[in-house]
Amino acid sequence: MNSYISTSWKEELERLIQGKSLVFLLADSNLPDSYSRDIIKVCNMETKTHLFKIKGGEEIKTHHHLILIYNELDRVGADRESVCICLGGGTISDLGGFAASTYKRGIDLVILPTTVVGMVDAAIGGKNGINVQSKVGILKNQIGTFYQPKLTGIDLKWLGSLPTDEVKSGWGEMLKHALLTGGPHLEQFKNAEPNLASLTPLIIDSGNIKEGIVRRDVKEKGERAILNLGHTIGHAIESLDLDSSHGSKSKHGIAIAWGIVFTLEVSVMKMGFNDALAKELIKWIVDIIGSREEIWGSDAVWFKMCKDKKNTNGNVKDVLLRNPGDADWGFTWEREEFTILWEQFRERYELTSF
Ligand SMILES: NC(=O)c1ccc[n+]([C@@H]2O[C@H](COP(=O)([O-])OP(=O)(O)OC[C@H]3O[C@@H](n4cnc5c(N)ncnc54)[C@H](O)[C@@H]3O)[C@@H](O)[C@H]2O)c1
Ligand SMILES: [Zn+2]
Repeated sequence: MNSYISTSWKEELERLIQGKSLVFLLADSNLPDSYSRDIIKVCNMETKTHLFKIKGGEEIKTHHHLILIYNELDRVGADRESVCICLGGGTISDLGGFAASTYKRGIDLVILPTTVVGMVDAAIGGKNGINVQSKVGILKNQIGTFYQPKLTGIDLKWLGSLPTDEVKSGWGEMLKHALLTGGPHLEQFKNAEPNLASLTPLIIDSGNIKEGIVRRDVKEKGERAILNLGHTIGHAIESLDLDSSHGSKSKHGIAIAWGIVFTLEVSVMKMGFNDALAKELIKWIVDIIGSREEIWGSDAVWFKMCKDKKNTNGNVKDVLLRNPGDADWGFTWEREEFTILWEQFRERYELTSF
């Protein structure tokens, strides 16, 4: 894996684009213009830069938007010696990363994440992808590749314009890394508030936790699967929210945090996770994410879990914890047991189904 996280992205970028034919800057149109201007300034010293803006959000992870990008790459004459820079959150880097990995069988990719989710997670590890609108609803991240960026450049000042609910969503992914690591990082994270000032000093550490796990298992043959902690349920909730025309739509990290709450409960039963500690962690998490007015019933959630891309041979896989810092990625769900536990879980949090 030759990608690395750099906080001195300007110098790295300048070096990387030397001799390249064109820079294609895919930027989220929700960002202040000054962010892309700064990048264009750096690039234009070396290489002609073409700016293409798309409004970030889960809705753009589609074939339609992918084709828009291919067409634009083609229109501006991008070739195999061109570089694609993704400036935005996880939706821009998932979509743009997939486009870069497939256009002319792959052009160089740079990711400049502008959300907490992006900085600690989506921009690291080389996974990209789009959702599929199937006859039975949206299936998350079903089409994608492993494709390492040449550079992941982090500039914490880009977070200055990020809405507070997006910061909280980033807290959800940082929670995942903290639980997977345990020890002093988890303690520090527990003491942090879910706001930008408090989380900023922990962002680079959180990103490095992911990078370390990925580095040991780039293609997810084993250990990397622990990064799916909370995601079997979280993705199911997120996909059902997307399908629905009513009810609350969870941000990615908040859906994952709900997945983690359920996982902690199941980990007590199945893995001997300390009950008192699980209760303490769950209270802390739920106090931060707040309750959901409504949550999906077990049939709907099970249906989405069955479509999860990490399943093999029809088995619904999940990640549980023995302790903070000690995850097991080999757990397989039985439908009957899941149904009972999920319905109990919903009752406990006084949630009603649609
Ligand atoms: N590939 C991976 O390994 C990986 C890992 C985690 C998450 N993801 C994916 O990432 C996506 C979630 O990422 P996200 O939370 O960054 O979502 P996002 O890209 O939708 O960004 C969230 C919102 O914030 C806006 N925004 C982004 N940066 C901003 C800034 N600096 N100032 C103001 N507004 C800004 C966006 O326009 C959007 O409305 C999901 O699709 C998820 O599946 C991928
Ligand atoms: Zn995630």
